[in-house]
Amino acid sequence: MTAATATQAAYIVSALLFILSLAGLSRHETSRSGTVLGVSGMAVALAATVGLASRSIPATGVGLAAAAMAIGAGIGLWRARVVEMTGMPELIAVLHSFVGLAAVLVGWNGYLDVEAQPGTWTEVPGSLLGVHHAEVFIGVFIGAVTFTGSVVAYLKLSARIKSRPLMLPGRNALNLGALAAFAVLTVLFVVQPGLGLLIAVTAVALALGWHLVASIGGGDMPVVVSMLNSYSGWAAAASGFLLNNNLLIVTGALVGSSGAYLSYVMCQAMNRSFLSVIAGGFGIEAPAAASAEQGEYREITAEETAGLLRGASSVVITPGYGMAVAQAQHLVADLTRRLRERGVEVRFGIHPVAGRLPGHMNVLLAEAKVPYDIVLEMDEINDDFAKSSVVLVIGANDTVNPAAEEDAASPIAGMPVLRVWEAEDVVVFKRSMAPGYAGVQNPLFFRENSRMLFGDARDRVEDILSALGTPV
Ligand code: TAP
Repeated sequence: MTAATATQAAYIVSALLFILSLAGLSRHETSRSGTVLGVSGMAVALAATVGLASRSIPATGVGLAAAAMAIGAGIGLWRARVVEMTGMPELIAVLHSFVGLAAVLVGWNGYLDVEAQPGTWTEVPGSLLGVHHAEVFIGVFIGAVTFTGSVVAYLKLSARIKSRPLMLPGRNALNLGALAAFAVLTVLFVVQPGLGLLIAVTAVALALGWHLVASIGGGDMPVVVSMLNSYSGWAAAASGFLLNNNLLIVTGALVGSSGAYLSYVMCQAMNRSFLSVIAGGFGIEAPAAASAEQGEYREITAEETAGLLRGASSVVITPGYGMAVAQAQHLVADLTRRLRERGVEVRFGIHPVAGRLPGHMNVLLAEAKVPYDIVLEMDEINDDFAKSSVVLVIGANDTVNPAAEEDAASPIAGMPVLRVWEAEDVVVFKRSMAPGYAGVQNPLFFRENSRMLFGDARDRVEDILSALGTPV
């Protein structure tokens, strides 16, 4: 067997491992083995690629590549160990930006290294040369859009810039103009390649990526993150064509299509138009400014909340991003256990985009050993709020905002929410009257049956536990 055949065989093994990994990651119970399969697939792929490359490049080149990989792996391991769960989407956005940047560099290299040495291509028929030119352009375009889009997503998710959508006049025309410019530049480049055209398409794509993500508002950011995940896959696939690497094409297509499907599922869950979100908020009107406070709110103490819980027959807990920030999940699990021991029915209502990444709340509750069967999805619990005595909104805000249903002008209008306000009593755990991620005020806080329990969620749950006294 030649080295090239062995490499292709290894690539098929890795591609299969990646497919099995995706299958494993689709369910809680098998997600660990899914991760192990993915890591194994990547290890096989790296070993095969480096093994093949070492036959055609000098030893110093292999040494440099090994050093770069060791440094990269070290940084990756360190970041993965120290990152907080709440910082995960930011980290993912940064990693997507690297994939985009790599695709841009591969494209530029494809032009500078190959086109600048016409001798390399004398054997290639003219039509294939045109395909190569188109590959360079498409790779650079998708890569550059992914790069700046991911940088803006990172800045928004880490609150370094405001999450409100940027509403430039004629923004849809700007996006469509950029796409038209890409099409025209591609044709020109295929006919007569030139550095000027490559610089122009890179600049157009960098600006388009920035504008697409900047135009999307806070509440739609979850979809944007999975969409950028998809773009990064297509960027990698484009690089695979340029580098003539089948595994990169297969892996890129897997990431691209699974990311696109995840975006679609999230759009359905949030009642958003998939096409509108991928087109940078196409057709969405500029939202009104965040509304001011809407009346009087009432406060409650931890002791009074314990009193409400003692008298309750059915309690629903709707956790959100604040529970993750406070790391209150273990105490919330203790509270659940304590109430269940007293004969109170306790269930959790989980919104599909609660927190900052898909399944965020489910992961935290599973970590705190809350039984799966009392953790219900939004659709499973929404009709039961009206029959519940008390709802504890622990660090959630946008996901329980009635404005989504009642105010057509709200930036989150139409997004399905947990109808917590239908319960007899609602206690909202948060530190201030600040709005949630989408930057909109929440009329729930001013309702007759709502009361605010201010402070860090972890401290307040601890206070409630002490007020409830020793376990029965
Ligand atoms: P948010 O609307 O983000 O609200 C979280 C609330 O938690 C805030 O109002 C905050 O108020 C409170 N909080 C923060 N730290 C706290 C602490 N230590 N103790 C008590 N409260 C604390 O949360 P949500 O309802 O989970 O909604 C998620 C939002 O994020 C949605 O808009 C969603 O679109 C967006 N998003 C989601 C994802 C995914 S995939 N899940 C990804 C990106 C963005 P105070 O500051 O007053 O305490």
